[in-house]
Amino acid sequence: MVRILFAGLFIGLVFSDPSPVQDYCVAVTDSETYIPCKNSSLVTIEDFMFYGLNATAEFNDAGQAIVSVNVNTFPGLRTQGVSLARADYKAGGVAVPHVHPRATEVVWVLEGTFLSGFIDSEDRVFSKVIQKGDVILIPRGLVHFHKNVGDVQGTILGFYNSENAGRSTFRDTIFGCELKEEVSEKDLGLRAEDISKVGGRKLNLCGKG
Ligand SMILES: *[C@@H]1O[C@H](CO)[C@@H](O)[C@H](O)[C@H]1NC(C)=O
Ligand SMILES: *[C@@H]1O[C@H](CO)[C@@H](O)[C@H](O)[C@H]1NC(C)=O
Repeated sequence: MVRILFAGLFIGLVFSDPSPVQDYCVAVTDSETYIPCKNSSLVTIEDFMFYGLNATAEFNDAGQAIVSVNVNTFPGLRTQGVSLARADYKAGGVAVPHVHPRATEVVWVLEGTFLSGFIDSEDRVFSKVIQKGDVILIPRGLVHFHKNVGDVQGTILGFYNSENAGRSTFRDTIFGCELKEEVSEKDLGLRAEDISKVGGRKLNLCGKG
């Protein structure tokens, strides 16, 4: 009996599902392979190369510019379980609180000084001013943030244990969303009109913009 239980456990471990790498995956039932892959005869060294981390992307309103090197921009990462991103920040620039639902992140400061941290599921904040050469770990799925608190532009590299870590911000999911206004009103204790004024910007609140 015990042996059967162990055998069952072993099979369960070996054949359990892989972690999801996308928000969802609608199966293509007539696909011949589970994950469509490039014909290996046609694969070259260039399929394992990515160029472009030597340049800064365009800065957004928050003073942040991201170059994402994930499976969408670098197809060779498919099934390899890793990805990375370069993020540049103007002085005062921020990565607004966000989560990567599918990955733990290791952040390496290349240049500059940042206030960085995360919030655990008991609402405890872990944060610190970090600088060039420092590395901070962001546990999988937790809300985290960065702010360039130095006087000059700064750069960080983020490494993820997913080919497609995903990124959700509250501005987009809660305020810019299709969430029923009754739900966000209850959550925030604010009326829809008040919520739409949050941050002094026009938000696409559940179609009420
Ligand atoms: C893969 O590419 C090679 C070389 O072009 C070709 O001979 C082979 O038929 C292709 N295999 C498949 C499964 O398409
Ligand atoms: C970045 O590297 C690529 C290829 O290695 C090169 O073509 C490009 O000119 C470089 N860009 C900058 C801004 O250095």
